[in-house]
Amino acid sequence: MDTVQAKILDGKKAASVIKEGLKARISKLPEGGRPGLAVVLVGEDPASKVYVGQKEKASVEVGINSFVHKLPAGTTQPELLALIEDLNCDPRVHGILVQLPLPEGFDADAVISAIHPEKDVDGFHAVNVGRLWTGGRAVEPCTPKGIMALLDSTGIELKGLNAVVIGRSNIVGKPISAMLLSRHCTLTICHSRTKDLPSAVRGGDIVVAAVGRPNFVTGDMIKQGAIVIDVGINRVGGKLAGDVEFESASQKASWITPVPGGVGPMTIVMLMKNTLELAGIKQTPGT
Ligand code: GUN
Repeated sequence: MDTVQAKILDGKKAASVIKEGLKARISKLPEGGRPGLAVVLVGEDPASKVYVGQKEKASVEVGINSFVHKLPAGTTQPELLALIEDLNCDPRVHGILVQLPLPEGFDADAVISAIHPEKDVDGFHAVNVGRLWTGGRAVEPCTPKGIMALLDSTGIELKGLNAVVIGRSNIVGKPISAMLLSRHCTLTICHSRTKDLPSAVRGGDIVVAAVGRPNFVTGDMIKQGAIVIDVGINRVGGKLAGDVEFESASQKASWITPVPGGVGPMTIVMLMKNTLELAGIKQTPGT
């Protein structure tokens, strides 16, 4: 078959359109009726600091009240749990996010479990995970929610397509699998122990790469015409690289996300959208 250049799934552009919609919606609310997002950062992890800064900036831009709590690395687990309890009870706060990974010594599962499921803006609480898999009213994790929005923006019917997810993390691999399954995709989940991963990936009409290894997925693994979603954010010699080798994969794919400017911007805007949804402020379709 002829090689064609894939169309770009421009997450930066899509996120900015959604963001404008959210901003317009919030601007119509009374000052006291604005949604509030609390972000908790423990310790000094440089990447986490950058991500928290991006979340604070995006909140302010759309008009969400931002409450950032920066705690020293020496904070104890009971101190962190006490803060979460305060935020659970604070009526100004509709979404709570504890930035992961937590420093060594913290029990991340216990911390996530302490967040009230109705304020769990990440959708990481077991109640929301359970609801996602059973088809209930779940808070959908932000990165998978952004991926679904990008897939829908292609206008392609997802029902019955073979979807291959590479990676089985709680943040991306597992929840995107649940969401693709709920949209009637036939699902394959690959991971580090998968035998003959390239041949599994070659069966994918949709490929979601979330492995955290630069240029792991190469063009020879991509079925002609597949939609390729690259969730990877890897630093290689000061430059960002995805999990997909863009040059070769874009010769085979029909649609492909770039890194940067693909999934990343969608994650942040979906955090804003989740905060509004938890505040009970409904969105008009498409925003
Ligand atoms: N660390 C990396 N991604 C995420 C995320 O989506 N949410 C939280 N809380 N921490 C993260």
